[in-house]
Amino acid sequence: CGIVGVLGNHEVAPILVEALKRLEYRGYDSAGIATVNSGTLSRRRAVGKLVNLSDLLVHEPLAGKSGIGHTRWATHGAPTVTNAHPHRAGCVAVVHNGIIENFKDLRAELGAAGIDFETDTDTETVALLCEHYIREGLSPTEAAQKTVGRLHGAFALAFLFEGEDDLMIAARKGSPLAIGHGDSEMFVGSDALALAPFTDQITYLEEGDFAILTRNSLQIFDSKGNLANREKRKIALEAARVDKGGHKHFMAKEIAEQPVAIDRALRAYLGSEDGRQLPEDLDFTTVDRLTMVACGTGYYACLVAKYWFEQIAKMPVEVDVASEFRYREPPVSPNTMGLFVSQSGETADTLAALRYMEGKAAQIVGLVNVQESSIARESDVVLPLHAGPEISVASTKAFTCQLVILLMMALKAAQQRGHPLPDGLPEDLRALPGLIHQCLSLDAQIKDAARDLAKAQDIIFLGRGVLYPLALEGALKLKELSYIHAEGYASGELKHGPIALIDEKVPVVVMAPRDALFEKTVSNMQEVMARGGKVILVTDAEGARVAGDGTHEIITMPQVPDALAPILYAVPAQQIAYYTAIAKGTDVDQPRNLAKSVTVE
Ligand code: G6P
Repeated sequence: CGIVGVLGNHEVAPILVEALKRLEYRGYDSAGIATVNSGTLSRRRAVGKLVNLSDLLVHEPLAGKSGIGHTRWATHGAPTVTNAHPHRAGCVAVVHNGIIENFKDLRAELGAAGIDFETDTDTETVALLCEHYIREGLSPTEAAQKTVGRLHGAFALAFLFEGEDDLMIAARKGSPLAIGHGDSEMFVGSDALALAPFTDQITYLEEGDFAILTRNSLQIFDSKGNLANREKRKIALEAARVDKGGHKHFMAKEIAEQPVAIDRALRAYLGSEDGRQLPEDLDFTTVDRLTMVACGTGYYACLVAKYWFEQIAKMPVEVDVASEFRYREPPVSPNTMGLFVSQSGETADTLAALRYMEGKAAQIVGLVNVQESSIARESDVVLPLHAGPEISVASTKAFTCQLVILLMMALKAAQQRGHPLPDGLPEDLRALPGLIHQCLSLDAQIKDAARDLAKAQDIIFLGRGVLYPLALEGALKLKELSYIHAEGYASGELKHGPIALIDEKVPVVVMAPRDALFEKTVSNMQEVMARGGKVILVTDAEGARVAGDGTHEIITMPQVPDALAPILYAVPAQQIAYYTAIAKGTDVDQPRNLAKSVTVE
């Protein structure tokens, strides 16, 4: 969820909506704002995307120069208006990101005091508890402080009060929160990017901080209740909202931008005349083990990188999804490098996994797209992806930039550890933007294939070796965008179960460049065709010549060096998902139930 707060000098509703637009990547199940206008607290809330709230505000405007807002990714309670934030209890309105773990106990306590509930949400409990303390005689600030002290879990909160036009409370425990300083104005946001149109003067709250804001003052208390002095930083952020640049969807634009994004990443790290290269403090010489942790698409980038680090740099690599890693209590040897891959840099599980490794590992490295993110700030070494803003929920250019940088890291590790580099590398990397460009022109053919795929109920993706994670990524993209059930398998695993699913109604997409493992994959493909399965083979011209017979469709990719194949085969995987979603008419940029960045666990 995304939260925002403004103590301003102008009508605040449009400012809140503008900031929420920039936070919609955190969820879009519902949105709402509350304002105080000459002491009167009011709110408006709407289910679904932010545009529904904007429409509501046209018919039912909300006046006032102080306000809080929220865009929700539902955790407790369905995405209904009643469950939408801000939650209100009498004179208190609250917006919240995170989960209050002890809310049932607090509810029972309030219930015993005769207090009624409107919703099943944890956030309403916070509002009611705060109001309860105000009724007992505490000031709004004291009541909020006492309330926050009673909450367990990970959260960021902003409070607004009836009768208080110049007061806002913000609190952070586990979920990030930034305070923006204006000219006799004060802002609160889940990230600094949301505040970029209004101010570049940012103070980040730290764990356990409690902040009291007025238009002209900011007081921050640390988790022990002592007055804390937090740095105010000037942040260089792109304030302009990104547009679709003539494309139908952000996803189409972001797929098309990959040659440029990859070129930017290469220039930033691939050693050139002007001396830019991978950070010097990225030192693999004394590292015994690499532990890579991420979620979603970033996790698949790590799975690809495992092959590279093992094969090229001969390093033992462990890869895990953050939600498992953080609770598994894995032992961390002192010579481990922890590598955290995240587009947003805010994914709650990945951040928690990073914190688990802090102090245990030799070095924490963050690979993030958002440079002012929590993961960037908490890593010892940060490698920005340079992908540019990624708006579409399904990750595309961030994924390929992750792959490119991970490959450059594996090459550096090999050099530092005295292992020869594969033939042609790193020089061949410079050809990537041009090769990606060629792949993009396959879209007409993929569009045709997608019309067929859109009729299927189940689709299987197969890949082997370094292409196996691409089969997983292809299936993930397809299911999140088109809502068709899809699974990715290592080709060799097909015969151990999934082959039972194969019949003429289950298309099988095979990702197989003509590499050393090609013949093996072709055998697996034959097993599918022998059972009536419809194969869509993504391969190069040589692969098509050798194994094309009997396939339903062939998508012919350029010939590429083996190590680069996963980067290029990402493009047809993205386009298959994109065009299948178009054929089905689903919401490409904001698929149902998803969020771009999941800031709760
Ligand atoms: C969400 C997004 C995915 C993304 C994952 C990890 O689930 O929908 O596209 O891969 O989070 O996000 P991160 O920002 O950490 O890469």
